[in-house]
Amino acid sequence: MQKKDKKTRVVVIGIGAVGSTTAYTLLLRERMTELVLIDYNKQKAVGDALDMNHGLPFTGKTKVWAGDYEDCAEADIVIIAAGAAQKQGETRLDLLKKNVMIFDSIIENVTKYNKHGILLIASNPVDIMSYFSWKKSGFPKNRVIGSGTLLDSSRFKYLIGEKMNVDPRSIHAKIIGEHGDSEVPVWSLANFAGMPLSLTEDDKKEIFENTRDAAYQIIQAKGSTYYAIALALDRICTAILRDESAVLNVSTYIDDYQGVSDVYIGIPCIVDQSGVREVVPISLTEEEQGNFQQSAQKMKEQIEKINE
Ligand code: 2OP
Repeated sequence: MQKKDKKTRVVVIGIGAVGSTTAYTLLLRERMTELVLIDYNKQKAVGDALDMNHGLPFTGKTKVWAGDYEDCAEADIVIIAAGAAQKQGETRLDLLKKNVMIFDSIIENVTKYNKHGILLIASNPVDIMSYFSWKKSGFPKNRVIGSGTLLDSSRFKYLIGEKMNVDPRSIHAKIIGEHGDSEVPVWSLANFAGMPLSLTEDDKKEIFENTRDAAYQIIQAKGSTYYAIALALDRICTAILRDESAVLNVSTYIDDYQGVSDVYIGIPCIVDQSGVREVVPISLTEEEQGNFQQSAQKMKEQIEKINE
């Protein structure tokens, strides 16, 4: 008889465009045995769960249902994608006040039932929402992770790959700092096959600007972004559920990293079943380090606003 899969449960809170696309991506890729959808509009979660269940004959055997906070009790990962999303003309930071209020009750409800799982934060401004979730939950820092600059790094690799006509999966390049306007490209470490990238300064400028402003372009074109962030969240879940020790640019709490402390921000981290197992101490140029410190300072100013 076939061995039964170990039970793994992922809960997605906030079944808007990002939440439902993430749930669907996880389902298609058969990442867990149980998938729970929670939304303040329960009907939306019920509808999505039904719709996904009707596709199960075409996928694997996953139990999907619209749940309540009690269902977080047995969750390995709770993904939080709830809250207001960026609209045209807004920056991610404009969402701060609204989303802190929404997160205040979500984190309280989740931690009432779950003491052992990993919180994976997707809502914007993601670095600040991750810091808030960490403080509010009382969870150890390794178990509160923000999607950080994983998506930005993916956009960066895609654009470099396009310019060089090389598969983006063979490009090693990262964006660190805020998931937002102050993010920092680490050109000094970018390579393919261990070789420096053959790009002009103009190419670099264009690639970075298109990376940083990608969400604005997509929001202007179709109102919101969800496919690529869903894949980024799926990547983080996989690293956790398969205990991969993968290096991913996620948002984590840092203490004396590149001269910065007490902030959540995107940096390369080793991610395994414990969450963020450790941060990777990369070497930056003076300019990159200065830009990273400025980005972190901006995050600190936003964190202070939460308490105002
Ligand atoms: C994105 O970068 C809006 O943060 C979202 O796609």
